This record gives sequence, structure tokens and C-alpha cells, in this order.
Amino acid sequence: MSERPLMPGASFDFDATSVVVIGASRGGIGAAIARGFADAGAMVQITGVEPEPRPEDAARFAYTQLDVTETDAVRDFASRVARLDVLVNCAAITQRGAEMDPAFFSHVLDVNLTGSFRCAEAFQPALTAASGNVINIASMYARFGSPRNPAYGASKAGVEQVTKSLAIAWAPDGIRVNAVAPGFIVTEQSARARQDPDFVRQVEARTPAGRWGQPGDIVGAVLFLASPAAGFITGTCLPVDGGYSVV
Ligand SMILES: NC(=O)c1ccc[n+]([C@@H]2O[C@H](COP(=O)([O-])OP(=O)(O)OC[C@H]3O[C@@H](n4cnc5c(N)ncnc54)[C@H](O)[C@@H]3O)[C@@H](O)[C@H]2O)c1
Repeated sequence: MSERPLMPGASFDFDATSVVVIGASRGGIGAAIARGFADAGAMVQITGVEPEPRPEDAARFAYTQLDVTETDAVRDFASRVARLDVLVNCAAITQRGAEMDPAFFSHVLDVNLTGSFRCAEAFQPALTAASGNVINIASMYARFGSPRNPAYGASKAGVEQVTKSLAIAWAPDGIRVNAVAPGFIVTEQSARARQDPDFVRQVEARTPAGRWGQPGDIVGAVLFLASPAAGFITGTCLPVDGGYSVV
């Protein structure tokens, strides 16, 4: 079956634009964003915590194995990039039911929240050199409670908040900082939750669009926020959720 175009009817030109997508190794949202930027002409590098990305992405993108909890490794990776137009922070973990353990709670915050901050901070000189922008990937759980994912929700609320603070802090450097909050998307991260048929149906029933999203559904919003069309937008968080958040 042929894949649907990532952005039917819309196009952005990212020719000669440098993009780093952190957390694009598992073929999920990060990989879809990387492919979307590359299809629009950008030079794209990706990272992930695994030794290798998916084979189709290994063939297409320069890949770096990078644990975003390691400050020195993140700084070393960023120091090799003199000029960066777009940084996408997509790395995150969650584990339903395990997040009431304080040690694991802290680890989730370290990966999802501090990890996003670490990468943004490390790339700030390169982003300044290009008057670039940062797109952080938040979540519906930034705004809604989740009994089985308390750390994930707290981390994503933090991501949305730090997006605002960095937008103000770095506006004088010409850097825009925005976030996208996906709704419920079919990826490896949501695979465990999707084993629960009641949960799958509840999400479908509450989502006005009547379905779970696909990774490609997130791409257009990210490219828009990274484009000159969004030149006066900074510090915002754009839901891409099939209407889930307005019900
Ligand atoms: N799938 C959904 O329903 C959904 C909904 C809202 C938000 N999101 C967010 O979208 C982003 C992408 O999620 P996805 O569903 O594609 O997940 P995924 O599991 O497919 O990808 C997660 C990525 O994070 C990386 N990662 C994990 N731990 C890391 C670490 N310690 N250091 C560096 N990288 C690490 C992995 O290598 C992988 O590349 C995440 O921020 C996620 O929270 C997903």
C-alpha cells in the first residue's frame, strides 16, 4: 500500500536548512518529522538512544547514538555543529504503571524534560548563529492527569513551560522556541497502552476526528512552526490532536 503524502496540499521549502531531530530512531514521530524535513529539502541529522535507527532511516540520515541524560555527551555532539536552523526535541520515555516509583519518576523527568532542556541549551550557540528555532514535542498529558503516567505528564507540562521561558530568554538572539502537543498517535511508545482495547476505544470515542493519529499527522505543524511563515510565533504550544483537547 502506498503511503499517504505527509502534507497533502501544503509545501514548505527547507532547501539548505540544517535540522537535528533528537529521538528519531524508532520509526515514530521523530522519524516522520525527519523524513518530512528531508522531503522539503533540508539536511537532516537524527539521534536516538539505540545503537542504530530503523534500516530505512539508517540509509537516509546521519545517525548519532546519544543518551540525552548525559550532559557531556550532549554538549560534545552539539559542539560539532557550528550553525543549526532547526532543533526538534522528540526523545521521551513513559511506562504505564511504573511511574509511581520515585527513582523511575526522576528518570522520566531527566529524559523528557531535562533532556529537552539539555539539548536546547547545548545547541543555543549554533541556533544563535543561524537565527534558528527549537520545536519541543509536548503531549496532551501536559494538560490532563493520567493515573498511570504521573511522571510523563509532569515532564510534558515542564516541556510546555520551559518552551515559554526559553522563548523569552532567547528572543534577543533571534531564536524562536515553540512546542507541538500531539494527541494519541500510533507509535512504539503507545504500543503498550494500545494493547488495552477499552483504552483504544475510549481515545477514539473522545477524539472528534474519530481515530488515533499517525506519526505523519504531526509533521505539517512542525514544519510550519519551523518555517518563516511562523516568524512571529514563539513560546506557543500547538495541539495536533484531532480535537481531543477541546472536548
Ligand atoms: N505516541 C504518542 O501517542 C505520543 C503522544 C504525545 C506525545 N508524544 C511524544 O512524541 C515524541 C516521540 O514519541 P514516539 O511516540 O515517536 O516515541 P518512540 O518511542 O517511537 O521514540 C522515542 C525516541 O526517544 C528516544 N529516547 C528514549 N530515551 C532516550 C534517552 N535516554 N536519550 C535519548 N533518546 C532517547 C528513542 O531512542 C526514540 O528515538 C515523544 O516526545 C513523545 O513523548 C507521543
